[in-house]
Amino acid sequence: MAPQGSNVSSSRSKLFLCLLLLACTGAAGLQVGFYQQSCPDAESIVRNVTWAGAAADPSLAGKLLRVYFHDCFPQGCDASVLLDGRGTEKAAGPNLSLGGLDVVDAAKAALEVACPGTVSCADVVALAARDAVSFQFGRLLWEVETGRRDSCFSDEADATSLPNPEFVFPILKDSFAKRGLGVADLVALSGAHTLGRTTCMFVSPRLYTFRGNGGVDPLIDPGYARELMQQCQSTSSTNRVVMDPGSEFSFDTSYYAAVKANRGVLLTDSVLMHDDEAARLVDEMQDQGKFLAAFEASIRRMGAIGVLTGSAGEIRRNCRVVN
Ligand code: HEM
Repeated sequence: MAPQGSNVSSSRSKLFLCLLLLACTGAAGLQVGFYQQSCPDAESIVRNVTWAGAAADPSLAGKLLRVYFHDCFPQGCDASVLLDGRGTEKAAGPNLSLGGLDVVDAAKAALEVACPGTVSCADVVALAARDAVSFQFGRLLWEVETGRRDSCFSDEADATSLPNPEFVFPILKDSFAKRGLGVADLVALSGAHTLGRTTCMFVSPRLYTFRGNGGVDPLIDPGYARELMQQCQSTSSTNRVVMDPGSEFSFDTSYYAAVKANRGVLLTDSVLMHDDEAARLVDEMQDQGKFLAAFEASIRRMGAIGVLTGSAGEIRRNCRVVN
């Protein structure tokens, strides 16, 4: 990765220092309230900035939840997705449409005033994603374990390990299993698609060129396929379609009703009905209480993937560049 505005030798020495710290990790682990002593207002600072952002932009919850997922999956929840520069994860195709990063920057800037060099960018992402989703409920939906530290590098190639929206069920399941997540996590976390939109390029192959045979994916309800064709008129359409029609901004269970009715937008949503265990869980998740409890447990597991703790990595001053 090539941090902006720094020369090659200083980048190398920063990387060396950071790797040295990585080698001496104390692996203290994550805990709720990690900043209670070191920065008592950390969580309220992030919440205030995020809630102001969510009040101004109802799509923020979806944007930040996706940033969190895209941070955690490739090399762990270490803010590697936030680093600017050529060859970073951020430069990879799936990350070009990430949004809400200005809110992460604003929260981090406020934290640097209150408690310089204390709160990691990786924790800001974890907290801000929770806060943005919670905004519509007026209360915090889940506790966030904190204590993550930030990576010193980011590699565009790592982003290719994000699940592809055209994965069939066994491959999708395997992609989660590689991160220690099971089918229950896959089903609960897929519920994030109750928020936000997808670009037509991820839907059109199901409408016009399914499995290369020029037909429509037989898994999509035909009436819904026709609706989608009106929004995505060709494989080159750049339109964005709502993933959970009727409740794009609402963190609710209607995504699961849609999946069950063969109205999942992405193939990876639809294939949840291709596995007995996943299909049973899709049914169960239609209860809001069960969905929220399952989501909380699964996002906690997702938030622990490959974290740097103790003295590993660093606490970036600016989330876009290594120190
Ligand atoms: C199961 C594997 C998954 C696949 C294949 C997948 C794929 C996608 C794709 C292709 C998009 C549309 C991107 C665009 O056009 O800009 C999307 C959007 C989104 N994804 Fe996923 N995703 C998966 C899991 C997740 C998980 C685990 C989360 C969070 C916990 C998540 C949260 C979101 C959100 C909130 C959006 C909407 C973003 C917005 O409107 O700004 N996804 N996903």
